[in-house]
Amino acid sequence: MRKVDLKKLLDNLSLEEKIGQLLQVCGYYYEIEGVVTGPQNSAGFNEREIASAGSVLGIAGAERLKKIQKNYMEKHPHQIPLLFMADVINGYKTIFPIPLAQGCSFNPELVKKCAEISAMESAAAGLHLTFSPMVDLVRDPRWGRVMESTGEDTYVNCVFAKATVEGYQGTDGLNKKGRIAACVKHFAGYGAPMAGRDYNTVELSERTLREQYLPPYQAAIEAGCSTVMTSFNTLDRVPSSANKKLMRGILRDEMGFEGMVISDWAAIEELINHGVAQNRSDAARLAIEAGVDIDMMTTCYCRNLKELIENKVVDEALLDDAVMRVLQLKNDLGLFENPFKDADEKDEKTLILCDEHRAFARKLAAETMVLLKNEGILPIPKKGKKIAFIGPHTSRRWICGVWSIFGEEKDVISLEQAVRNKKIENVTFSTGCPILKDTDALELAEKDCTAIAEDNANKQVLLDEAILQAKNADVVVLSLGEHPAQSGEASSRVEPALDAQQIELFNKIYEANPNVVVVLFNGRPLVLGEIFEKAKAVLEAWLPGTEGGNAVADILFGDENPSGKLTMSFPRHIGQIPIYYNDFKTGRPYTGNKGKYFSKYIDCPNSPLLPFGYGLSYTSFEISDVMLDRDSMTCKESIFASVRVKNVGKTAGKEVIQCYIRDEVGSVARPVRELKGFHKVELQPGEEKEIVFEITEEMLRFYTIDMEYKSEPGKFTVWIGSSSQTQNGREFILI
Ligand code: NOJ
Repeated sequence: MRKVDLKKLLDNLSLEEKIGQLLQVCGYYYEIEGVVTGPQNSAGFNEREIASAGSVLGIAGAERLKKIQKNYMEKHPHQIPLLFMADVINGYKTIFPIPLAQGCSFNPELVKKCAEISAMESAAAGLHLTFSPMVDLVRDPRWGRVMESTGEDTYVNCVFAKATVEGYQGTDGLNKKGRIAACVKHFAGYGAPMAGRDYNTVELSERTLREQYLPPYQAAIEAGCSTVMTSFNTLDRVPSSANKKLMRGILRDEMGFEGMVISDWAAIEELINHGVAQNRSDAARLAIEAGVDIDMMTTCYCRNLKELIENKVVDEALLDDAVMRVLQLKNDLGLFENPFKDADEKDEKTLILCDEHRAFARKLAAETMVLLKNEGILPIPKKGKKIAFIGPHTSRRWICGVWSIFGEEKDVISLEQAVRNKKIENVTFSTGCPILKDTDALELAEKDCTAIAEDNANKQVLLDEAILQAKNADVVVLSLGEHPAQSGEASSRVEPALDAQQIELFNKIYEANPNVVVVLFNGRPLVLGEIFEKAKAVLEAWLPGTEGGNAVADILFGDENPSGKLTMSFPRHIGQIPIYYNDFKTGRPYTGNKGKYFSKYIDCPNSPLLPFGYGLSYTSFEISDVMLDRDSMTCKESIFASVRVKNVGKTAGKEVIQCYIRDEVGSVARPVRELKGFHKVELQPGEEKEIVFEITEEMLRFYTIDMEYKSEPGKFTVWIGSSSQTQNGREFILI
């Protein structure tokens, strides 16, 4: 056991040693298995620099990390342990659904448990910190990273930010067994790149930034999140890693964040590309002044800070503060007492992919799936039907999302495997069209995936086989979607839709047998077009992870009743993007009025194909009119708004009761409605429950014309229902 006096330790460090604490290099430099998650062009560290680095990313495994730590500690003059960080985004080895799907569960308890399991497995594998959660608000499905967010709503993102941070870190100390530190990212506004192109400029008004984009980061910070990562983008033309107003003014002074800030991969050096720094030295100065503590994967800090400090360009106190935050985190994790923390080969064996984790992954995956359409064809009876399972995702195991960097394909249950496990009779399986190769996801993401489909020569043979199977079946389950490498970082798409090959497959199969159930495996909302019109049922399965196939089969055959709701709108047309439910009032709102001069398209409705909060069940629920215990309140009072919900179907099921509020008149234009609360309620057939929401003055606050965060008296409308389009509302007054 070793207790350290951090201040004393800091005082004993040389300038180079201190700077070393601020350098993070990737595991690649230690062992070839380390995962590279960004461009390596700039790196080129020398051996001395690598030896001085205070943290490592992208490498895991108890034996490996213990060895690296041991060697490092033996050589380190002050025995300061290394911090091991990685992107454990939706699970370590037990892979859970992508975060976008997790949001659709509307079940923060489950998502918290998912983070707990991810933390346990990661900790056993020697990791100390995960670069998660990403809480960036997203409104543009062209952006590949919507898969890493919980969607388009501020409130939902806040709820899941908190749940995830608490899941990883617990609330009783980071040094506790099975806990890892969380890193909320990407501060700030990374989810709004123009035209959905990754790393592109962000243009947000300060009001929108503060009101809609910052609260989820704040929620993570309030939940105790130890670390914040800067974003790649500019905000008001200033890249975050050089943005003192954002990183010190807003993050630290206003939001009260006291922990460590890490740059995103090479973001400090990219200040040169942004054209705000002349060279690496300039970039290092800007970043340290802005309050960025760790430099991920560039030589900016390690080759320039010393000179900048010696020449009195940068105040050494800034360096000391940054180093202190790194040491503090190492200390909070208990690494000075035990540099290996929970790394343990035996625990790895018992915990990783254990039955309990798999069972939970299956349950969570089923709860994240959203039934988008059902003309009574689902669930499919387990007996008495001939079922043709067709499509490129039917037998695909790699249904995990690109950030499952430690997950392995061999551990994943495909849909085909799951159907076989259920011993369903009279089934056939075929891919129907060429499938994309599961090669290196990063390599795939560099190209247009549709262009590199395997087995193109065999196309007609595959199609003929599938058509024959469809003709002989009562029901076709057609699994379509995106290859996982088509979403995630650096995977923006101008056409968030199914590729031509899969659309052709759908049409050919539909011609052969119109009883088609479409199952979608994808990382973003897609424009579904005629597929949605024609299919008898559509199930959004997202990228569901290790137990994904089992979870889909559970829903298809009625062992689970779907209860997910969309957290991102599905556009009818690409031209509607960005599309989101809580847009602002305009001077010429279109509500079906006759005439031309309204805010609308002449060739497409304004509404999305499927709105935020939407999702079907195998049962039906009746929701009563909204009841208010009073219809006015002062700032000190609250109103209780309630509905009664009844399961009027024949199956037990869960419904997400959602509460939206609109401020009818404000000093600035207000959103048409905003989600203020939700309850997921489980009801047996015939069962009824009352669901109550407390409306407080705090919920009615916004940034007024004077940029004050407060409520304004006046009329409001509250709606309670089962999607963002509910019309079940009542008015109330804030006095
Ligand atoms: C770049 C990504 O933007 C970030 O989210 C990730 O955590 C880092 N690379 C590290 O892999």
